[in-house]
Amino acid sequence: MKPRIVVLTGAGISAESGIATFRDSGGLWEQHRIEDVATPEGWLRDKELVNRFYNMRRKQAAEVAPNEGHKALVRLEEKFDVHIITQNVDNLHERAGSTKVLHLHGELSKVRSTVDPNLVYEVGDRQIAIGDKCEKGSQLRPHIVWFGEAVPAIEEATRIAEMADIFMVIGTSLQVYPAAGLLHFAAADIPKYLIDPNADEVAGVFNLTVVKEKAGIGVPQVVDALLKSPSLL
Ligand code: APR
Repeated sequence: MKPRIVVLTGAGISAESGIATFRDSGGLWEQHRIEDVATPEGWLRDKELVNRFYNMRRKQAAEVAPNEGHKALVRLEEKFDVHIITQNVDNLHERAGSTKVLHLHGELSKVRSTVDPNLVYEVGDRQIAIGDKCEKGSQLRPHIVWFGEAVPAIEEATRIAEMADIFMVIGTSLQVYPAAGLLHFAAADIPKYLIDPNADEVAGVFNLTVVKEKAGIGVPQVVDALLKSPSLL
């Protein structure tokens, strides 16, 4: 049985691929305010604007590529049972080759019905139009968890975090809950790594090694160390 590594990732792991992080850009996404493009109220106010915003992000995500950080996590699968829990809505982990990826905040490449949330459609980088409908005749919306909406995958993510033998956090400001709380579900006595050029110690987290590096440098460093000594446990 391979030891289980749980990896919580945020926008920072995709930064070197060319996707802007949220909080480094002063809280604006491509010059839009969060409340206008990433809330249910914003959608009700201006579906065209929200749809344009996600069409642009969907197109951009398809034009970039996984970086050394994403690729190093794939190498971990040689000796570890790797579960990635990501706050990112791009599919760079999957395109790098990671096999177990749980998206907490949805996925850009998917849209869903506005009358039946179980009707989810894979659209890749296709541009969606207002007027595109689900099989029940309702407008399609981005399959994204907007601010103020529930995070359906959080229960599964918590169970995964509780079972970790090693916990890694990469490229997240740990400011958005419930995602940020997952680190606290990891057992106190297991090794934990925080990889982020601006990282500081996290209060109340034991056994934490902070690697103040960009993901493209820090993740391969930690992965190489873990692969050399899986008996770390
Ligand atoms: N490598 C690693 N980390 C980086 C890099 C890099 N090259 N560049 C920036 N970072 C770090 C920043 O220091 C910051 O801590 O990535 C983090 C990005 O934080 P945020 O922009 O807040 O992104 P994230 O934590 O993923 O946001 C969480 O909030 O915006 C909403 O729903 C959205 O999923 C998102 C959630």
